[in-house]
Amino acid sequence: MAKKLLRTLAGQAIWPPPVWLMRQAGRYLPEYREVRARAGGFIDLCTNPALAMEVTLQPLRRFGLDAAILFSDILMLPWALGQGLRYADGEGPVLSPIRNAADVRALDAARLPGAIAPILETVRGLRAEVGEATLLGFAGGPFTVACYMVEGKGSKEWDQVRRMAWSDPGLFGGLIDLLTEQTIVYLSAQIDAGAEAVMLFDSWAGVLAPSLFRAHVIQPSARIAAAIRARHPGVPIIGFPRQAGTMLAEFVRDTGVHGIGVDTSADLATVRECVPATVAIQGNLDPLALLVGGQALTRETDAILAAMQGRAFIFNLGHGIVPQTPPAHVAALVARVRAV
Ligand code: CP3
Repeated sequence: MAKKLLRTLAGQAIWPPPVWLMRQAGRYLPEYREVRARAGGFIDLCTNPALAMEVTLQPLRRFGLDAAILFSDILMLPWALGQGLRYADGEGPVLSPIRNAADVRALDAARLPGAIAPILETVRGLRAEVGEATLLGFAGGPFTVACYMVEGKGSKEWDQVRRMAWSDPGLFGGLIDLLTEQTIVYLSAQIDAGAEAVMLFDSWAGVLAPSLFRAHVIQPSARIAAAIRARHPGVPIIGFPRQAGTMLAEFVRDTGVHGIGVDTSADLATVRECVPATVAIQGNLDPLALLVGGQALTRETDAILAAMQGRAFIFNLGHGIVPQTPPAHVAALVARVRAV
């Protein structure tokens, strides 16, 4: 198990730490925009193995990062279950919203294997190309995926979703259960195709009250982690319950994840104290410090490294790269981390 990121996820404090960036493939790279234009739509890009492989590898060629993350999207799971999905320019994802039991029943697990076949082909192709980088598969956390499925589009507060979770626990719990089961199938298939570790992006976990966080973030993540451990012993899983705040330690304890992604708002010294040393910590540079660059970037990078020295740690952002980020700032960041 020579790869840096995998050794870190096994609990070793490697220094300098491995580094990769959430949303490292994307619109801030001119070569991505070129391929994106050629692909047609965003879903066409995600389901075109040659082009999806190409955009996955672009940030590795430029920056020599320690992980390649499969190019796809968390909403490809509802798409594979038959929910209407489109990516509108400047608007983000738009889905036919799920509002009742009939909408949930219309989701069709039988469609999944055929729909994800091209994505798995991308994973198989990538495994031969990633070299010393670790190939990461991923899925959305069931709660975050449910957010988009119920609301039908992005939101800051997710009122419709939280309202459904309180008012119709049977309906919302049923949707979360279905997504949990299908996420296990989907991640397992990615691992069979060559993913060496997997990450669960629960970007909106932080909007939930603690009781709902336990039911819809911790429990599903624990089920997914247990199933991956049972079916694929030795394949690590990284959780990312964004803005979990005071629920972070409980999430780590009750899910048994090997790595924990922390968002920009988390104080790393505090996280270090409340997470067992066997669990790798991943994060948490502010994507806007990366965008700004200069002193803000070097000071903050150094502070994060100082806080995590001697600890199993993966340098990353606290959330995804923003499209306006100059690629030169990413190169400067990677150089700074590697020079520590
Ligand atoms: O490099 C990588 O990180 C790999 C691919 C990846 C994408 N999305 C590509 C993408 C990953 C891991 C994701 C995760 C994802 N997708 C999350 C969780 C992480 C987070 O950022 O919170 C969420 C919530 C989504 C849903 C999603 N997809 C939204 C809200 C949007 C629109 C906003 C935006 O950035 O455009 C997308 C589209 C999307 N997913 C793009 C990319 C590169 C941009 C689409 C384009 O090229 O037009």
